[in-house]
Amino acid sequence: MGKKPIVAGNWKMNKHPEEGSSFVDEMQDLLLDIKHVSVIFAPPFTGLFEMNVDPPFYVAAQNCHWENSGAFTGEISVSMIKDCGAKYVIIGHSERRHIFQESDDWINKKLRSVQSSGLSPIFCVGETIEQRESEQTDKVLRSQLEKGLSGINSIEDCVIAYEPVWAIGTGLTANNKQIELAHQTIRDILSSNYKDVEDIHILYGGSVNSSNAEDLIQVTGVDGFLIGGASLDLKSFSSIARTVEMVQEKKI
Ligand code: 13P
Repeated sequence: MGKKPIVAGNWKMNKHPEEGSSFVDEMQDLLLDIKHVSVIFAPPFTGLFEMNVDPPFYVAAQNCHWENSGAFTGEISVSMIKDCGAKYVIIGHSERRHIFQESDDWINKKLRSVQSSGLSPIFCVGETIEQRESEQTDKVLRSQLEKGLSGINSIEDCVIAYEPVWAIGTGLTANNKQIELAHQTIRDILSSNYKDVEDIHILYGGSVNSSNAEDLIQVTGVDGFLIGGASLDLKSFSSIARTVEMVQEKKI
């Protein structure tokens, strides 16, 4: 049996705690019989504590600080996130990199901190349209992966998300060939430093919705999705999870 695919919803700065917790309750009711997919919800920090989930449903934070505590106004540490019952932390999302100027060095510190706490990072990488058009995609992915993972000995607990910046929230998805190649490139880069890279999940993110999910989940090397917009809507998010479940069931 292969890897169990992951369908993760990154809510970004959306949903108040009550909305989030009732959404999660309804999703779990709708997907009671789900067996072959893990579903992750990533609410804003304020919603983390309110999520009541049982496997195969999990909670992720969208960011963290690398220090455990101290004078860091506005920040949240991984141990605080862990206290809320989350299992994952999204690190290096393109909005953090581009809007909040997060550097590879910060991302590396955050990844280490998540790992040392026993949580699992969902580590995001991806190129801008300018980088793709100037054929820099492989170079950018290599640089983000190597700098982000610098000094990290094992990535067993890491989930990688390939999110081309130009496909995020634009309605444009990368085509199947672009996704397959990027996922292969990521796996090759990781394989030069780590073992058992075949077991690592590499998710695709960028305008995934209930209409394209069936096609995208069958692209070689895609082990699930990181979804923004379509994860805010109960019908579309549950339908994507169902689609992935159905495709996976056929494989087994
Ligand atoms: P969209 O699915 O809205 O394109 O967002 C993708 C994303 O950024 C998930 O982290």
